[in-house]
This record gives sequence, C-alpha cells and structure tokens, in this order.
Amino acid sequence: MTEETLSNLLHEERRFEPPAAVAEHANLKAEAYERAAADPEAFWAEQAGRLDWAQSWDQVLDWSDPPFAKWFVGGRLNASYNCVDRHVEAGRGDKVALHWVGEPVEDKRDITYAQLKDEVSRAANALTELGVGTGDRVAIYLPMIPEAVVAMLACARIGAPHTVVFGGFSADALASRLEDCQAKVVITSDGGYRRGSASALKPAVDEGRAKAAELGHTVEKVLVVRRTGQDVAWDDEVDVWWHDVVDSASAEHTPEAFDSEHPLYVMYTSGTTGKPKGILHTTGGYLTGASYTHWAVFDLKPDTDVYWCSADIGWVTGHSYMVYGPLANGATQVMYEGTPDSPERGRWWKIIEDYGVTIFYTAPTAIRSFMKQGREIPDRYDMSSLRILGSVGEPINPEAYVWYREVIGGGRTPVVDTWWQTETGSIMISPLPGVTHGKPGSAMTPIPGVGAEVVNDAGEPVPNGSGGYLVLTQPWPSMLRTIWGDDQRFKDTYWSRFKEQRYYFAGDGAKKDEDGDIWVLGRVDDVMNVSGHRLSTTEIESALVSHPKVAEAAVVGAKDEDTGQAVCAFVILRESALDSGGGDGGDDIVAELRQHVRKEIGPIATPRQIMIVPELPKTRSGKIMRRLLKDVAEHREVGDVTTLADSSVMDLISKGLGSGTAEG
Ligand code: WT7
Repeated sequence: MTEETLSNLLHEERRFEPPAAVAEHANLKAEAYERAAADPEAFWAEQAGRLDWAQSWDQVLDWSDPPFAKWFVGGRLNASYNCVDRHVEAGRGDKVALHWVGEPVEDKRDITYAQLKDEVSRAANALTELGVGTGDRVAIYLPMIPEAVVAMLACARIGAPHTVVFGGFSADALASRLEDCQAKVVITSDGGYRRGSASALKPAVDEGRAKAAELGHTVEKVLVVRRTGQDVAWDDEVDVWWHDVVDSASAEHTPEAFDSEHPLYVMYTSGTTGKPKGILHTTGGYLTGASYTHWAVFDLKPDTDVYWCSADIGWVTGHSYMVYGPLANGATQVMYEGTPDSPERGRWWKIIEDYGVTIFYTAPTAIRSFMKQGREIPDRYDMSSLRILGSVGEPINPEAYVWYREVIGGGRTPVVDTWWQTETGSIMISPLPGVTHGKPGSAMTPIPGVGAEVVNDAGEPVPNGSGGYLVLTQPWPSMLRTIWGDDQRFKDTYWSRFKEQRYYFAGDGAKKDEDGDIWVLGRVDDVMNVSGHRLSTTEIESALVSHPKVAEAAVVGAKDEDTGQAVCAFVILRESALDSGGGDGGDDIVAELRQHVRKEIGPIATPRQIMIVPELPKTRSGKIMRRLLKDVAEHREVGDVTTLADSSVMDLISKGLGSGTAEG
C-alpha cells in the first residue's frame, strides 16, 4: 500500500453506530474491556468456564517457560463432548446443528445435535477399530460435506490430532504434510461437487500416499466417503469405505477427558521458507478462544440465530468458525459445499433467504467479486434476516465494506472486520457489534482479553497517526503452542523479533489512526495474501525451479483488484530451454510453468503472470530485491536501485518485458 492510499484511508470519515437493538442485548458490553484489562487471567478463566470440564484447572496460565505457554493447567476436557454431547444432554438434541447444502440444488441435509452425536460416535468407534489411538495423527482431505465435520470431531473425541488439508492442494502438497506429521490414516472421498460438476479427490490421495512412501512414510489406512459415485482405484490392503465401517459401528461412545494441553490439531500454513509450518493447537485454550470469540464478536444468540461462515474447512477459519466455535456454542449453522456461482450467480443470497441466515462471515475477495457483478443479483433476494456481517482474511477496503453493509446488510448490519491468523487460533482484533462503531477499513481494537500494539523497530508503541509492526503483547489461550516438530523455528519466527519485550510478532504491518484504531496493512515478510489465502514466495519459487527448464525464479505478490494480491513470477530459463525456442518468453513455456506450479502446490498458487527475464536484481550479497520486481509487477516506476550489484539489470528486465510477459 502506498503512503498516498494509506493517508486517504486514514481520512475515512464514515462511521456506523451499533444498532440500538444489538447494543441493548449484546453478549459483551463495553465494561468487558476494562474488566479484562484489570485481570486478564480472571477474564479468560471466566470464558473457559463457558465450557464443560471433566476436571477443573489448578492454574490458569503457566508462562514460566516462554514462549511455551500452558493454559488451564491440570484441567481435563473433551472437545467433541463440548461441541456435541453437552447440547444433547441439555435437552437440545432436536436442534439443527448443520443445514448442509450441497452444490447440486436437490442435495440438502439437516443434521440435529442428536444425529451429530450418533454419527461422531460411530466414526470414533470406526477409527479406533482401524487402529487409531490417542496421539496418532489423522489427515483429512475432504470436500465441504458433513463427514468433514464428523471426521474432525471423531478425531478430537479419541484424542487423535487431525490435520485437515485443503481439497484444493495438490498430491505433492498433501504428501509433504502426511510425511511431516506422520499421519497414520487419511480420510477422504471419491470427490465433491464444484462449479457444476464432480471433481475427484481420491486420485490425489493415492498419489500423495505413494509420494509419502518415497519420503519414507507409510499411511496405513485410507477411509473413503462416497460422495459423487465416481469410479475410484482401490487398494484392498489400505482403502476402506466410510459407509462400510462407520454406518455399522455403534453409536455409543464414551468420550475420554484429555489434558487441557493435549494436541487438538495441526494446521499447515505458509511461512517465509519453502517448507510449510505445522501450527499446533491444543485443546482447552483453543476451544476457549474459539467459543468465546464466536459468541462475543458475532454476538451469537444460539436459540434464534442462523449462522453461516463461507470458509472452507481446510483453512483455520473453517476450524474455528465452522466447527469448534459455533458447535461449542450450540449454534445452528449453514454449511455449503460448492462455489458461489453454481448453478447461478445468486446462489449464496438464495441460501441466506432460504435458511433465514442472521450472521454471515466471508472474505473481502468474495465481496469484491460480487460488487463487480452488480447489486442487481443480490437485490433479487430477501436478506432481511441478516443482523451481523463479518469479514476476514485480508484488509477490507472501505468501498467493499460499505457495499457489503449496504447491499448485503440492507444498511442495518454492523460489519465486523476481524483480524487474526492461523497461529492466533481465534479473532484478536475486531469491533464488538454492540459496542464499537464501524469505521470502514479498520479492524479497530483488540477484543477484551487480548493485548495488541503497533510498535517501531525498537519495540516501542508508535504514536497515533503512525505505522509499524503489529504485535500481541500478552499470551492468549488459543495461541499456537509450537510448530509441529520444530520448536526452534517457532521461537525464531514469532518470538525473536521482539524477544526482550516478549511480544508475539505477527508478520503484519499496521497503522494507528488519530483515534488509536488499528488499520492492518498486510504482511511485512515474504508472504503473500491471495484471496485471503496465505502463500509463501519461496514455496512458489522452489516449485518453479524444480522445473527442468528453469534456472532461477523470483516471486512477488502484486496488488490485484480482485484477489488482493496476485502471484507474479520472474523466471530465468536455462540455456538448454533457450536453445530449444523457449527464450522468446513464448506462451508455451509460460503455460507449461503455470501448469507446473498448479501441479506442485495447487490451483491457488498458479501465477497470474510469469515474466521470462534475462537477469534478476540482486544486492551485492546475492539477495533478490523483490521490492524492485514488485514495482515492475505493479507497473510503477522502478524505485531506488543503488544497492543493486549491477544497476543495469533493471533496464534489461524492462527491455525484455516488451516481448516477455504473458498474463493468464
Ligand atoms: C494473515 C493470516 C485469519 C484466518 C484467515 C487467514 C491477513 C487476516 C485480516 C483482516 C487485514 C488480515 C493478515 C494475517 N489478515 N485477517 N481482517 N485485515 N489482514 O489466515 O492464512 O493465517 O493468514 O491474513 O496478513 O497475518 P492466515
């Protein structure tokens, strides 16, 4: 973001007061800020008390060995029991937990809490039968079908940490995750419905399993849900149908209470190196954070609200705000399998109308694409049930915020712009809908219980009106506990930058406006944010250089109107490739490389643009100056080149681009 857009943003004058009805009945009122600040541990203990514990804790927080925190020490609980059984025991078994909506319009299933309890119990028994024990890891690679939720809760029920891999990731990406966390079992399906047709998943698991074996790791069993009825290759030794073993299993299952710090799941996310990080979340603190924030930030009224989060279960948003938060709170929610435009472009709004959705949570990139299509489409639907809207994943630009509020929310609904990360586990910075006025573009202030600051290089808070690094100043229950198998990387990545102050460094830049409200600006490291999904420049660069025709590659995230940022790659070809006619930056090689990245990582990582160049700009110590490449990708005049080892390189690049760019 340039200084100019930034100062425009900060002069945003529009303000939206909380509606009187929301303010009056808000779950969390203004007094909570002071109460939490006065005694954070007491405040968090109160939030943990909203869960059912088999055994209460002796100590709220053990921070004696930073950055390794322990929350609710000595406490024991079962996450699955908290998300399912306790609601049934409280007499709410007939309440709908999931209104599942398949992409084909005739596919619908309502699942009550009592039914969910039976299904989760059956799946837990089946997993135990397959040899999964407490502590074993289970990978889940499924489309947005109820079995995905059931599978996660069944793992949690038996204390087997799950790792959900987004269905859009490739076999290679799956294999490296299977190997990294040593997954014993994979749960998948034949396929799922997207964009009007059945797309396969099982072949990627077969390939991923073979690749994991090459890396020395054996997956013992693959449990396969039949969703589409597609033909699948079958290995009798390994593959098992879900309907064969889960449907016949007993619906009786007594959940065991686990230690508060028992691992709940590992979620892989991109960092600044090529190797994804397995973010570890544990049970008691994570569930406390997810359920508290879902209740407070969305002002959830479980008896009357119908909640819908459009995120995929393969991302942390799907974990915290589709599974653990809403279910721990006994919410009724919508789960939708497909794409927003299938079979027609009003599909989302039709779902809101059909189910009377009251709280809706989505990403700015989706909002911008709807804005482009025009308000005529949403205007055809009755969305008067909506009372709260949420946004997550990237900064929401004020125009998208105002459009969301006016067109989708009918001008009535507060918009909560929620800042958080895979690592934080739950929302950290956000307005409270009954307390905070809305300011388009700002995530406002840390929620009660959370400490956040914008600091300078020395770790000192910047004055209002200035920018710096976003940090979290005190531990919080749903914080990541480590990077799976790599404590050192955990320390280095998050806790070394402001070691003295013991601040968690989020990797984002932010600014405080004249009122002290926070504007998150985006990553300050080599991490891109494409459609709200995190991608590492290095990871894509390694994918590119693994292609035999590529000698060197540099990747930058360039500003993009639709996706926030887009992947732009600069590639130097090997001489052999140049000789065989790839040297003119022809469309063939560009198409081939785009396909290669797609295969190596997945469709979300496909470069928007690949530029074949003769040289890359480097400092004397050999570091690629991505800043200059970003100027080129964003069509700006190239900035300061004085630290370049060879200042003529940028001329070469610009000249070469005359013939060498190709957009996809
Ligand atoms: C990164 C975290 C949080 C779940 C989805 C993404 C960016 C997230 C916002 C927001 C500005 C945001 C940050 C953050 N981000 N929410 N409301 N405003 N930026 O999770 O993949 O872990 O990515 O997304 O850059 O660091 P993630």
